[in-house]
Amino acid sequence: MHAGTLVLYTDQQPDHSDLLPALRCIARCTVLRAAEMPPPGPHLALVVDLDLLQPSPLIGLRALIANTPDLPRIFLMRSMGQRSLAAARGLGGRICLPAGTPIETVVDALRTQIGIPKAAIERPAAGPSRVARAADAAGGVIADLLDAARGSGGIDPARIEEGLEPVLGAVGAGGLASWLATVRAYDDATYQHCLLVAGLSAAFAIDLGFSSADRQQLVRAALVHDVGKARIPLAILNKPSPLDARERAVMREHSAVGHAILLQAGGFDETVLTVVRHHHEMLDGSGYPDGLRGEAIPDIVRLITICDVYAALIERRPYRAPMPAADALGILDGMAGKLDPILVRAFARTAAGA
Ligand SMILES: [Fe+2]
Ligand SMILES: [Fe+2]
Repeated sequence: MHAGTLVLYTDQQPDHSDLLPALRCIARCTVLRAAEMPPPGPHLALVVDLDLLQPSPLIGLRALIANTPDLPRIFLMRSMGQRSLAAARGLGGRICLPAGTPIETVVDALRTQIGIPKAAIERPAAGPSRVARAADAAGGVIADLLDAARGSGGIDPARIEEGLEPVLGAVGAGGLASWLATVRAYDDATYQHCLLVAGLSAAFAIDLGFSSADRQQLVRAALVHDVGKARIPLAILNKPSPLDARERAVMREHSAVGHAILLQAGGFDETVLTVVRHHHEMLDGSGYPDGLRGEAIPDIVRLITICDVYAALIERRPYRAPMPAADALGILDGMAGKLDPILVRAFARTAAGA
């Protein structure tokens, strides 16, 4: 931690962003509105996160700049238009970063301005908090879906859409490993499982170079794939030991039940419905509920099935530790004839990177 105070002038809710925690990795940080006077020095640097075209009185900001003209400073711009940039330059801003600049880049630019070596930052500014928030957002979507499926409440397909960006954004920016670590902290086995499958699907789709629409379709299908578990008795769903034959038969109903639930709800496309019904089918016909074989199983189902089997192996349960990735991948490899071997090989590269 470095001596002096970082001053952040912002018109946003800093608690809702990853910026403040990242800045606090560098030094103590004071958050002010544009009109507020800065605290007594020494000051380490200034970060301005304001809409400079809004007619807000910049009295405090101007006072700080006037008193410490050499203070290192960075401007986070809402717009890179001429007027905004001219306003920033008028306040001595030489480094103006556009909105959406990754937090790590902001911290690096600030660190360089101040003259702090990278190694002196106490922890990387990559956002575990963003991942946690995203997992909570997607977990909320799954909770609402399962609640609606359990009761008589309607299932709203638009609510599922709210889970797509959090998963794809967090996995894309923070990587699969931090998503898996965060999601494994969830106690509820079904939420944890669905979030794991969603994160694995997102990472797989990104690695396969899928278009944005196809990435979303895969994550959408992953989020809802086990909706039928909402109708499985909890004593079976959460049983802390292997299921007997009768319980296994009940559990196996979840894919056909899930399909029926979404069909009745309406608003889900044929691809999602297919994934929900068939994600336990195996290429050799040994799966359920319809015993589909080979070509009858579409690619998107094959992708989700691989993520689903892998997620089930690496889940954290109260009664067993998560299986190491290498062991789980070994099991997928041993399912030749049941899973698509080309996709398993591709998935191994995604999973090994976590
Ligand atoms: Fe399932
Ligand atoms: Fe599943």
